[in-house]
Amino acid sequence: MVFSCWSAKGGSGTTVVAVALSVLFGRESASGSVLVDLEGDAPIVCGVPQPDGPGISDWLAASPSVGAAAITRLEHPVASGVHLVPRGRRSLSGEDRVTVCAQHLRNDERPVVVDIGCVTGDNDPDDLVRRRFIEAATTSLLVTRPCFISLRRALSLPIRPAGVVLVEDPGRALGRSDIEDVLGVPVVATVAVDAAVARAVDSGLLASRLPSTLGRALRDVA
Ligand SMILES: Nc1ncnc2c1ncn2[C@@H]1O[C@H](COP(=O)(O)OP(=O)(O)OP(=O)(O)O)[C@@H](O)[C@H]1O
Ligand SMILES: [Mg+2]
Repeated sequence: MVFSCWSAKGGSGTTVVAVALSVLFGRESASGSVLVDLEGDAPIVCGVPQPDGPGISDWLAASPSVGAAAITRLEHPVASGVHLVPRGRRSLSGEDRVTVCAQHLRNDERPVVVDIGCVTGDNDPDDLVRRRFIEAATTSLLVTRPCFISLRRALSLPIRPAGVVLVEDPGRALGRSDIEDVLGVPVVATVAVDAAVARAVDSGLLASRLPSTLGRALRDVA
């Protein structure tokens, strides 16, 4: 089971949702969960140092002789039950290797969450890798604020999510049904913008002390 979390506009809350889902899955599954970080912010949010060694960007850039089993060796424990595959230091490339990686992740008995980051629709190697991961996931979740710019960008992309996680700041003109009408997919969770979540992120405590509002909001997805 591979969940991809992505956005069409920066700062939507994608990393927060991806880390929270990996924590919820990690609690439920006896062998924990895997969090694959294509963006590079997961260690900060989990309150651990950026791992020094190679990451998924290095595996993607490696020759075909470096098999999928090596992906498991990239993991670092970052919170109870959560195993992080860090981004590494390279820019993303190696679109052709994503299928092999995704197959490996789908075969893992542990639930996997991929923090895809922001998708632009450009045909550069970085964006193609992100889109390939979205296409290869079991479930693809667009994380968005109720923001017209974000929705317009999502609509212009050549991919569609299976569902939307709405990060709802109060006082917006757009609501859940507008988003479902525009994108044609269901809102599967609504996450409130909550100062407790922002504080947990800023102090690196999101994974170790997941705010209860966030856990409840995402429970149905996990
Ligand atoms: N539910 C929430 N309540 C309060 N603050 C939030 C919430 N979700 C995210 N934030 C805050 O919004 C900011 C952006 O969140 P996050 O880094 O998860 O977004 P992102 O979509 O991953 O951004 P990027 O495009 O840079 O990867 C952070 O400061 C985070 O603390
Ligand atoms: Mg992010």
